Amino acid sequence: MADRQHQGPIMATRTSRGNVMKTMNKLEFDVLIIGSGAAGLGLALRLPGNVKAALVAKRELEEGNTLYAQGGISAVLDGSDSVDSHVADTLDAGAGLCDEEVVRMVVEHGPANIRWLYDSGVEFTRTPATGDSGYHLTREGGHSHRRVVHAADATGQVLENTLLRQLPTHPNVAVLEHHIAVDLITAEHDEEGRVHRRCHGAYLLNRLSGDVVTASARCVVLATGGASKVYLYTSNPDVATGDGIAMAWRAGCRVANMEFIQFHPTCLFHPAAKSFLISEAVRGEGGRLLLPDGTRFMERFDSRAELAPRDIVARAIDHEMKRLGIDCVYLDVSHKPDAEIERLFPTIHQRCLDLGFDMRHEPLPVVPAAHYTCGGIKTNRHARTDVAGLYAIGETAYTGLHGANRMASNSLLECLVYSELALDDIVRELGTQTQYGFSPEPWDESRVTDSDEEVVVSHNWEELRRFMWDYVGIVRSNKRLQRARRRVNLLRHEISEYYGNFRISNDLLELRNLVDVADLIIQSAQRRRESRGLHYTIDFPDRDDNQASPTILIPDSYVPNPSDGGR
Ligand code: FAD
Ligand code: SIN
Repeated sequence: MADRQHQGPIMATRTSRGNVMKTMNKLEFDVLIIGSGAAGLGLALRLPGNVKAALVAKRELEEGNTLYAQGGISAVLDGSDSVDSHVADTLDAGAGLCDEEVVRMVVEHGPANIRWLYDSGVEFTRTPATGDSGYHLTREGGHSHRRVVHAADATGQVLENTLLRQLPTHPNVAVLEHHIAVDLITAEHDEEGRVHRRCHGAYLLNRLSGDVVTASARCVVLATGGASKVYLYTSNPDVATGDGIAMAWRAGCRVANMEFIQFHPTCLFHPAAKSFLISEAVRGEGGRLLLPDGTRFMERFDSRAELAPRDIVARAIDHEMKRLGIDCVYLDVSHKPDAEIERLFPTIHQRCLDLGFDMRHEPLPVVPAAHYTCGGIKTNRHARTDVAGLYAIGETAYTGLHGANRMASNSLLECLVYSELALDDIVRELGTQTQYGFSPEPWDESRVTDSDEEVVVSHNWEELRRFMWDYVGIVRSNKRLQRARRRVNLLRHEISEYYGNFRISNDLLELRNLVDVADLIIQSAQRRRESRGLHYTIDFPDRDDNQASPTILIPDSYVPNPSDGGR
């Protein structure tokens, strides 16, 4: 449900070459990619030209978390930096829960992916004097080196728009904008006495016409992004409703580490700003966090002060706000030269000016807000999920990279690296299959009617996000989690009844997914009886090294995937 209006013009379904495609209610592809952010686009653009693919987005192609990314992409690009150092920093930020082999693999693939972006036309900010590459490398929390490449403070916008401009060069990618995936199409197959489940496509609701398209595919890729809209205050745009995680869970996939929701420490505190992010790079370039009386406080919490990992900084701010009963703290970079602020942070500076703050001369009021979903659909090193033929990449996936807390700018890196890993596996997989061989049932709406009470959806949407913020936020407790659990169970019951009786709409689908995701977050948080990384509970305030393993939830419908092929 959109609670802010940034809906652009409505576009027709078109192919990557720009010609309009007649939308039919049955479509067939080799690869169906659901999601057009860094992960989905990164895969679509690299597919061989003979692979017939579709790129699906529930709003305009560019809309998603990628578009709003500010700080940049981490990679080892400077002679004084090293893979070992990037690995060590990621493991440290991840608070003992990262999969070290995955971390090393992702970090090692970093520089080649930055080169791929560069070859695709992405222009990063350059400073010839800095580093071997000539890129200006900024710094963010948890990084012991300058290793974040960026396009000023609008890295995501430059990346997304540049890659989208490349899409017409691919001969075989159809684009389905304004199509929201409803559910995955799966079937169980018995091969030599072993039952396994396979994904054969997805049902897509065309938001403009109201028709439901049955899209069959030999491989389906979820690149649907994160779920931070489950919280009342978030840095994420409206599309971040965890649809991929919920659909995969319903289809029988395991999900992992859902308790680790990252709260970004510094979103602008202003009623009209809709949690506008003030990049961590502002702290990386010397920004200081202040209390209302002008005193710095981060040194009291961590020797790295403002550049401690995000979980520590967000919790410290939350602590100070509650201790002093204040609405926000302040981020001050006004001691830096005006020209440097204008060069490195033009977007943030302009947005703040529009809202009446001049960051060159005064501190900015800031608060934490939900920002990133560290857990997600459990995948292996080829991006395979528990269901054969179904892949998950980007923020929707759990790969083991982030552990209990993602280090800044490691997300776009993960999107790119896993789109490359998925590509290799999908090409192999397509080589082993010769035909589609499965004909899904068409969508059946014969037993539902139009809703006469849309208010149920809007009311529940608001209630869910509020109690998640109040009870499952930065600081948790057994009692708060129990309260949240009771409420989510009631909502789930109500929404499932509503879903069964009424024709589907975008808002209903998103709410249904948010309820599932909220339930997964609460269940995971209740299982972890310690405090670690982004999960902090007053009932178990210490880290317990006997619990240093991921939280894995298994759906009732889970069937092991024989094609998982181990790691
Ligand atoms: P997204 O870019 O979120 O794309 C999701 C796509 O899925 C969209 O196309 C959407 O329409 C589609 N979709 C979702 N559900 C459905 C459905 N049911 N049917 C059809 N389509 C669907 N990370 C960094 O590494 N560096 C940064 O500097 C950085 N800054 C950030 C700043 C902000 C304000 C935010 C919000 C995040 C930032 N992050 C950053 C995190 C990073 O941007 C995201 O994790 C990353 O972009 C996710 O990319 P993605 O491709 O997985 O998903
Ligand atoms: C930021 O610019 O602060 C966001 C970086 C990230 O989320 O990785």
